[in-house]
Amino acid sequence: MPAKTVTIRDNRTGKEHELPIEDGTIRANDLRQIKVSPDDFGLMTYDPGFLATASCRSKITYIDGDKGILEYRGYPIEQLVEDYSHLHVAYLLLLGELPDAAQFQDWTDQIQEQAGLPSQIEKVIQELPVEAYPMGALAAGVAALSMFYPDGLQVESEKVRRLQIHRLIAKVPALVACVYRRLKGEAFVPPQDGLSYAANLLHMMFSQPGTGYEVDPILEQALDTLFILHADHEQNCSTSAMRSVGSSGADPYSAAAAAIGALSGPSHGGANEAVIRMLESIGSKEQVAEHIRRVKIGEFRLMGFGHRVYKNYDPRAKIIKLLADQVFEITGSSPLLDIALKLEEIALEDDYFVSRALYPNVDFYSGLIYQAIGFPPSMFTTLFALGRMAGWLAQWDEMQRDPELKIARPRQIFQGYARRDVPSKESASISS
Ligand code: CMC
Repeated sequence: MPAKTVTIRDNRTGKEHELPIEDGTIRANDLRQIKVSPDDFGLMTYDPGFLATASCRSKITYIDGDKGILEYRGYPIEQLVEDYSHLHVAYLLLLGELPDAAQFQDWTDQIQEQAGLPSQIEKVIQELPVEAYPMGALAAGVAALSMFYPDGLQVESEKVRRLQIHRLIAKVPALVACVYRRLKGEAFVPPQDGLSYAANLLHMMFSQPGTGYEVDPILEQALDTLFILHADHEQNCSTSAMRSVGSSGADPYSAAAAAIGALSGPSHGGANEAVIRMLESIGSKEQVAEHIRRVKIGEFRLMGFGHRVYKNYDPRAKIIKLLADQVFEITGSSPLLDIALKLEEIALEDDYFVSRALYPNVDFYSGLIYQAIGFPPSMFTTLFALGRMAGWLAQWDEMQRDPELKIARPRQIFQGYARRDVPSKESASISS
């Protein structure tokens, strides 16, 4: 049997170094033995954006980017959305198996018990400026929770971690609703017992005094499916932020607030809002070809297209496209949908996109569905965060059990000045 090692010949010294290969990786730290002199720090890897660096071992989510496969704990995403709710999937991500009926009842009871917000948190959000960006307001609300639940710092206790997980999954819909009500200048509507996770969000966001809000079961189901599709995506930017902040022993509220910040960017979760803005700016199907031309000369990116890992169709986008058809049957079609379909049609045949393996990602159609349900674009990414909270927490919890857990602390290639003496103020003509 061939040895599971790689031999590296250092042409600077002529020495050969044999490094073990485990799970298709070498340990970057093993490279440190490759030195030109005893006091040399040793070889490092340079990997901006972590294109080929595994930062952890994980059993939660599997992606095969070439084949367009996404699995949570081994279950294909396509099967999960057929038969299970977001709360089932959250349980699966966190605990490794789907719950039986009794376990699910217990889980939903615990979530329901924690679903309200401390009144001071409502006030924190109410006091934010009217124009506060919803993702910033959500991050502020989640970070503020850490001051109400200081036991969150006991990250080494599995029991205490579990309680924080219940709190965050339970309270994030209320926080999102509170942020939305603030945007509308309306009073917060508390959660209602007996509603599903998605229906409760719709109730808290859209209920009006006197008239209430009748939840359409198809829209409720569509929203829940979007939460499942967003629930985890292995070591993406925001999950890496969650793990990175959590690796210092910070409480999960602080780590989740950082993850929300990471998700808000247009290259990541913020793309769902950016897609709608892009479709609005294109304006009509006739303008699509011109937009594609400008993308190809590098003026801007086609939002909702491309992915670091998927080099085939994003499997979530396939499900979302079908979901969009169901939703638009209820709500009536949107002129933006026609523009999106035309964009997709042209891009999928154009060599610029084909040669770079750029396909629609999860965010290309999700915004259109959110908009059809009645959410304003500035709230879209908060809904992504709501779904992703389960994955962030599962990854954070897994990290706390990892015997190899170390504080995240990358190295750098220093390219600044070599040591130099501070000049006297006179010689440098610095005014005092
Ligand atoms: N439109 C036009 N060109 C693109 C796009 C795009 N959306 N995405 C990548 N490219 C080009 C890029 O210019 C480069 O071309 P060249 O080789 O000629 O320089 C090539 O494709 C590779 O791009 P990259 O920037 O090295 O790829 P990446 O893996 O670092 O970036 C991405 C991945 C998702 C940030 C990027 O595709 C992108 O900016 N997409 C638009 C924003 C978006 O939809 N983000 C949501 C991602 S999925 C959900 C999530 O993660 O939250």
